[in-house]
Amino acid sequence: MSNYHIKHLEEYYQVYRKSVRNPESFWEEIAEEHFMWRKKWDNVLSWDFSKPEVKWFEGAKLNITENCIDRHLYTRGDKTAIIFEPNSPDEEALHITYRELHDRVCRFANVLKENGVGKGDRVCIYLPMIPELAVSVLACARIGAIHSVVFAGFSATALATRINDSDCKMVITSDGSYRGAKTIDLKGIVDEALQECPGVNNVLVAKRINSDINMQKGRDQWLQPLLDEAYHDCVPEIMDAEDPLFILYTSGSTGKPKGMVHTTAGYMVYTAYTFKNVFQYREQDVYWCTADIGWITGHSYIVYGPLCNGATTVMFEGVPSYPDFGRFWDIVEKHKVNQFYTAPTAIRALAKEGVEHLEKHDLSSLKVLGTVGEPINEEAWHWYDDNVGKKKSPIVDTWWQTETGGIMITPIAFCTPTKPTYATLPFIGIQPALMDEQGAEIKGNQVDGRLCIKFPWPSMARTIWGNHQRYKDTYFSAYDGKYFTGDGALRDEVGYYRITGRVDDVIIVSGHNLGTAPIEDAINEHPAVSESAIVGFPHDIKGNALYGYVTLKETGESRDPDNLRKEINQIITEQIGPIAKLDKIQFTNGLPKTRSGKIMRRILRKIASNETENLGDTSTLLNPECVQEIMDNVL
Ligand code: WTA
Repeated sequence: MSNYHIKHLEEYYQVYRKSVRNPESFWEEIAEEHFMWRKKWDNVLSWDFSKPEVKWFEGAKLNITENCIDRHLYTRGDKTAIIFEPNSPDEEALHITYRELHDRVCRFANVLKENGVGKGDRVCIYLPMIPELAVSVLACARIGAIHSVVFAGFSATALATRINDSDCKMVITSDGSYRGAKTIDLKGIVDEALQECPGVNNVLVAKRINSDINMQKGRDQWLQPLLDEAYHDCVPEIMDAEDPLFILYTSGSTGKPKGMVHTTAGYMVYTAYTFKNVFQYREQDVYWCTADIGWITGHSYIVYGPLCNGATTVMFEGVPSYPDFGRFWDIVEKHKVNQFYTAPTAIRALAKEGVEHLEKHDLSSLKVLGTVGEPINEEAWHWYDDNVGKKKSPIVDTWWQTETGGIMITPIAFCTPTKPTYATLPFIGIQPALMDEQGAEIKGNQVDGRLCIKFPWPSMARTIWGNHQRYKDTYFSAYDGKYFTGDGALRDEVGYYRITGRVDDVIIVSGHNLGTAPIEDAINEHPAVSESAIVGFPHDIKGNALYGYVTLKETGESRDPDNLRKEINQIITEQIGPIAKLDKIQFTNGLPKTRSGKIMRRILRKIASNETENLGDTSTLLNPECVQEIMDNVL
């Protein structure tokens, strides 16, 4: 069916027009022909962005794991579903077939059930990139439990906040994890977190590093013996289209992390359809996305999208620099990877190491390259194109968000002519709009503005767990009747989009979204700190790095500044995780504020980025004198 697999630009325009003119019949056709339903929908779409409320395929009944696993058993039972590539190249890779995956998921699902987990319960998964992570996600979906995966680089405090926010009753973790030459005591982090989580009375522990860990009686159980005993088949729970599938937390510019809620049917249809088209996946291909399943990219494009298409998807446990910077290319060669999807920050880190590692490996299997997570700069784009793709593999620069569930603006490989730094065209069914600051849509080309989406798409998040008002305020209040992305973008003369970056107080560091407020809150807990402000500044590899302006209390002023810097980063590591550490910390006597007392981050951002020629009018500030002082002492 051509609508399902678009192959040239003309066809893209044709299908796009159809999807926009008549979204309901378009998505109905896709859903009907390519998925397995226990009951079809009564209504394709109902929506009202003013509430906001969006429902796709209402009335339909299904289980997403039947679509990801069971229906492939007849035709692809012996095909590899997941290739697990361990942290160390000396450990053998594991090829898990669809049949084996079925067996593993069913056993795990039965273990969950035997431990009292049922439909609608929340389960927190805090695991490294080992097969148990993908399997536990699918096992939850099998029985209708809502998974909440927390990236295993988050601290105990961050983990506890997420567990409590969604009242998870169980945590799935491992004794520890490998990360390059290091090991990480994951179970220790879980133990610490659970001191703050009275609702968790069950912890399943996978064995990975064979470390000697504390197992709390009555709460903690080793996973493997339970799996060995469990029955190998499990009848899937039949879910409603709009039943929640998972919660995934993302940072907001203020307040607690937001638990974005994704539901079942629309998410399935959209992630599967985008996967197939954007990467032009073919039956025999091996696809590798280097993200962690702890992020949305891993949910949608390591697990659900690929498996729904019966694809072979690689899961890599390690890091690009271990045992050396050739590891990615080693894996591409070893598994003959055809589609390779990574982040600009990884590309920049690898580019810095030169091309010698690439030259040692045969990369001829590569057909399509992808990037995601932040804007890709021109230099990194060309390096990727020249050295990895050898100018013959299209680069799909995919723009999307945790909230959007799937890829939104992107080239379609071999179909959309690419342009460095441009995410190019809206995907099928996506209706972007650029808005001006007064709230009017900017029509025409060669314009820039704030990026909104005008019409619902199947995989959009439906709410923020426990806080629908915040969902409305954050995404549907800035522009009437539109979903506001928080990003700025420009549209060039042919209608291609280029994402220019966040327009709110979220900073993207190495592809990870970090809200300024939670970091500032952590810093302000230091007894010597009076107040602080965080801004981003350009960084060669990370894209952005964090710059902190910190005003000390009188008691702090006599302290050694370097020690204070270490302590501040220590607090951030404990409360959020090492990814949020500051690269630079400048101590200040005061922070520039408006007359209403709001910190003027715009000015601080310019100073940190060395763009002080054009600071704008500072005379209306409450304390204009501090600007000069800050400029004089900039790091
Ligand atoms: C940014 C990741 C430019 C953007 C899937 C967005 C990008 C945020 C791109 C979401 C891209 C993601 N070009 N910017 N190709 N992809 N972003 O929720 O600012 O981790 O709003 O989802 O990353 O990050 P999130």
